[in-house]
Amino acid sequence: MSNFDASVIAAVTGHMNGDHPEDNLLIVRAFGYPEATGSTMTGLDNTAGVWRVEDASGEHEVRVEWPSGAISQRPEIRREVVALYKTACEKLGLPAREEHAPAADAAAHGHGGASPHGHGGASPHGNPHAKPEDDGSFSYAIRTATWGDHSDSEGSSVMEDIMRMRATREEYVDLVVQHYFMYEALEEASKALAADPRFAALHPAAIVREQTLVEDLEFLVGENWRDEISPVPATAAYADRIREIAAEGWLPGIIAHHYTRYLGDLSGGQMIAKRVKKQFGFERAGIAFYDFTELGDLGEFKQAYRGVLDVLGESLDEAERERMVAEVRAAYRFNSDVFVDMKKANEARNA
Ligand code: HEM
Repeated sequence: MSNFDASVIAAVTGHMNGDHPEDNLLIVRAFGYPEATGSTMTGLDNTAGVWRVEDASGEHEVRVEWPSGAISQRPEIRREVVALYKTACEKLGLPAREEHAPAADAAAHGHGGASPHGHGGASPHGNPHAKPEDDGSFSYAIRTATWGDHSDSEGSSVMEDIMRMRATREEYVDLVVQHYFMYEALEEASKALAADPRFAALHPAAIVREQTLVEDLEFLVGENWRDEISPVPATAAYADRIREIAAEGWLPGIIAHHYTRYLGDLSGGQMIAKRVKKQFGFERAGIAFYDFTELGDLGEFKQAYRGVLDVLGESLDEAERERMVAEVRAAYRFNSDVFVDMKKANEARNA
């Protein structure tokens, strides 16, 4: 019996069958049916993926267990399908794709069987995933190359619970706590870059979140909040990665993390604030983090931000641009991992 919603299973199988039929074939050839001529992914549950296989002797069903053992959250499906694909390649002696691993871009997106980057798929949030114009810009390239990772983060159960207003206050407080540790590292790194003209326009004083987080934590946790909070392991690893890039002085790497967090706060974050406000009746305290009034018009700021990314892109060679896009993807993965860890911590608290 699967612990995943039918809509999630439909999204994953739809994606694998629609966009990666050749990977389905590789997986079943490596896991028991070397002569398979056809393969369709038909389902999945918390311990395995299921494929229908065709070969000369007829049709068969094969369950292939997830390499890491039992899983319970949507972002983990993507990780496991990618691992299965890589193991299948190894077993068959074939090179695995690095850049565009099979389900890495979209399996488990979940939004009703969205297409690889979520474009054009029906979204519960209006149509934010509508494909923007391909104007050849670097900001467009970043968004397109990473939208699948965005969907994984957006579709995590922590985000879904908050958006559906069924998260507990404790779970929301934990999100604020994790933000505190992420922004501590990010804003430390940003401060160090303040004098760099390539960075200054991305980081005006009004974007800095430190004070708002302190305000929220004082309200939500109490005066001694600093002694009472701790990061989940994925948040600690995320902050370490930001500090590592800062120590290296790799500007596009810091911008990759800056973009992933702040543009998210200025986009989906605004929707989160509305739900939390409604669910818990907060006014400013508790959701100050999402208040960017002093930045002015958020749409205009995001457009200007993308303009700065475009100029940066022109100054980078192809390899550096790719490296930066890979870091944005890594940033999304850190965020998804934080949600997985938060869920585990919450389950442990309530056990
Ligand atoms: C409930 C969860 C979320 C929802 C509903 C959501 C929704 C959205 C929407 C509607 C946009 C498009 C805004 C626009 O084009 O102006 C967007 C953009 C973005 N989101 Fe999210 N998001 C969520 C979670 C996240 C998370 C967890 C992250 C990463 C930490 C994130 C990072 C971003 C980024 C970087 C963009 C800008 C993409 C671009 O235009 O280049 N989002 N989000």
